[in-house]
Amino acid sequence: MNRRRFVRNTAITTTGIGISSLIPSGVWAHEVPPSDSLNVALIGCRNMGFGILQHHLSNKGVNCVAMCDVDSNILNDKAADIKKNFGQAPKLYSDFRKLLEQKDIDAVIIGTPDHWHCLITVNALQAGKHVYVEKPMANTIAECNIMVKAAGYYSDRIVQVGQQQRSGIVFQKAMELIRGGKIGKLRRVNIWANFEYGAGSKIIPDEPVPPGVDFDMWLGPAPKRSFNQTRFHGMWRMFWDYGGGLMSDWGVHLLDMGIWAGDITAPPETVLVYGGNTFHEKRSRETFDSMSVIYPNNDFVINWDMTAGISHGPYDSSYGLVFIGDDATMVVDRSKIILTPEYDNEAKKPKAEEYKFTDGKESHADHVQNFIECIKSGKKPACPPETGRVAALHVHIPNIAARCGEPMLIWDDANNRFTNSDAANNLITPLYRQPWKLPVI
Ligand SMILES: NC(=O)c1ccc[n+]([C@@H]2O[C@H](COP(=O)([O-])OP(=O)(O)OC[C@H]3O[C@@H](n4cnc5c(N)ncnc54)[C@H](O)[C@@H]3O)[C@@H](O)[C@H]2O)c1
Repeated sequence: MNRRRFVRNTAITTTGIGISSLIPSGVWAHEVPPSDSLNVALIGCRNMGFGILQHHLSNKGVNCVAMCDVDSNILNDKAADIKKNFGQAPKLYSDFRKLLEQKDIDAVIIGTPDHWHCLITVNALQAGKHVYVEKPMANTIAECNIMVKAAGYYSDRIVQVGQQQRSGIVFQKAMELIRGGKIGKLRRVNIWANFEYGAGSKIIPDEPVPPGVDFDMWLGPAPKRSFNQTRFHGMWRMFWDYGGGLMSDWGVHLLDMGIWAGDITAPPETVLVYGGNTFHEKRSRETFDSMSVIYPNNDFVINWDMTAGISHGPYDSSYGLVFIGDDATMVVDRSKIILTPEYDNEAKKPKAEEYKFTDGKESHADHVQNFIECIKSGKKPACPPETGRVAALHVHIPNIAARCGEPMLIWDDANNRFTNSDAANNLITPLYRQPWKLPVI
């Protein structure tokens, strides 16, 4: 019996049922015996991946046994931080395939740019590892489909997609309020995201690849090209080969909350889309700086509004959601909920009760906790690949519409194609650069 099965079977047989249903979140990690440890590895170390690794390591019994990055400067710096702050000395790799051969790794965290998520997730599952993959779960529709299939095939492994708001108190409370009828029947979800970085960096010329960087491995399955800092660390998001711009970067988080509120379990059938460039300064970017998307549902509508190159927005917040019900309007972001009732002029009283919650915090630690608990219990995580796919398609479909200049796209989920645009169908599946191959399950 391997370690991972031991960890899970111990959790189940000693309690009779899944441990996470007995022990509240945040408790188990501090009660596990030393032998009941979890070995994790990080692939893609610079920013979010490193944050997620640290959240893992703040749980007792979780060890970092390996780290991998194609930029050795980042790898060495982050490994030194792990040594200093957690006293651990993981093995270091520049090629994730070598890391995946390391037998004592139970779970991998994937913190690379989006164009790598699918291939590394599938390879990690094939190597027997659990996977925490950052959002959006993949950069194309076809890759999302492959990942859902792979997770189903390797179903004794847990795959958590990094849509952490699903595990956080603010949005859990917001969903409770909606489901408890506190805003009346849901009519509309208005979502906005306005961020300066989405307009891209100032344009600079291409340069030689910096020392210590394996740029060909950074590009991986994406087309070969010369090096430019404005398409590299952090800023890759604004180029179609690696990301989907602000639409996918923030859209996947915020649209996921509209999807959750409406109990939506499938990609949108129809989207109405404006995508264009209204920012007047020329920047290094391919993705759009302005997008408006309408997602009609049976009895309510989701509306997305995004402006890159600025940082202010409605309700004094650069991003957020307004859930509009028959009886009240509820504004939500990661830090707060403000519910304002409508007034009933006939009954001469408010239609709902006012409500305010302002103690929200980032929910990455809770999402990691949920992942670890699910590895132990075998339960479904808060954001499994099916959920990640629905959110990802809510951002990829409008991006495809805007790229093809289609104001409306109709998606046939059963047949995995658009019914009204050949150009859009051509953007479903990425063309992998040799020797990389789109995984087949
Ligand atoms: N959940 C969240 O709130 C949240 C927030 C920020 C970023 N993210 C997601 O996290 C992921 C990473 O974003 P980021 O901001 O950390 O990007 P980043 O560019 O700062 O870091 C990516 C790292 O991956 C490395 N890398 C690239 N290809 C690699 C490969 N083949 N093998 C190993 N390492 C490789 C890069 O060298 C870099 O160190 C993205 O998918 C992003 O959408 C999620």
